[in-house]
Amino acid sequence: MSTAKTVPVLTIDGPSGSGKGTISALVAEQLGWHLLDSGALYRAVGYAAGAEGLDLSDAEAIARCAETTRIRFVAAGKGHPARVMVNGHDATDELRTETAGAAASAIAAIPAVRQALVQLQLGFRKAPGLVADGRDMGTVIFPEAAFKVFLTASAAERAKRRYKQLKDKGLGVTLANLLREIEARDERDASRAVAPLRAADDAITIDTTGLSIDTVVAKVFAIVRP
Ligand code: C5P
Repeated sequence: MSTAKTVPVLTIDGPSGSGKGTISALVAEQLGWHLLDSGALYRAVGYAAGAEGLDLSDAEAIARCAETTRIRFVAAGKGHPARVMVNGHDATDELRTETAGAAASAIAAIPAVRQALVQLQLGFRKAPGLVADGRDMGTVIFPEAAFKVFLTASAAERAKRRYKQLKDKGLGVTLANLLREIEARDERDASRAVAPLRAADDAITIDTTGLSIDTVVAKVFAIVRP
């Protein structure tokens, strides 16, 4: 039996729209490894806090909410992202909005919220391996991971990608607003005191600007299976 510590981990961190979610899902599927979408956890807590009518700046109330919110990923079949259940409610669609992203970013700056989600995240490390997608996977949650990638892309390209994703999901957004929101979220994520968005010292950075999904997947594969 492999203990959790011997299970290989590939961390994929980066700012919003860098392609993390898409790349992590494809690589996990091709490797047959588990997938941790840690952003969904922060989105879920932000969503639960909103549903309870909590003030997002009330650190104590939000931390309690993070400790008590039940979050479950339910497989939706090959090629489909898992559904996210929050306190028994399928909140997948609500969690994808930029409003949910902004709420997640606000509550993610609260240290006790991050602490409340640590064990849950470590629990995803199961054989045969884990692909962990987030902001602090390689720096805080899995610092000893064997493989670490940091994905970046220009803000303009990231905004364009998010625009397409949200449009495809039928959500009304404008490119200019999205660019502003993405820049504000990145700034907050990178400048917060706890677990700021940054590449681990031993991460390999891939700038995905202008690269196709297949090219990026191949680059990540070259790191895990050289
Ligand atoms: O990756 P995603 O856009 O779903 O993340 C939403 C927000 O959750 C991020 O802007 C960030 O503030 C927060 N987050 C985090 N740490 C992670 C993953 C996400 O702080 N590991």
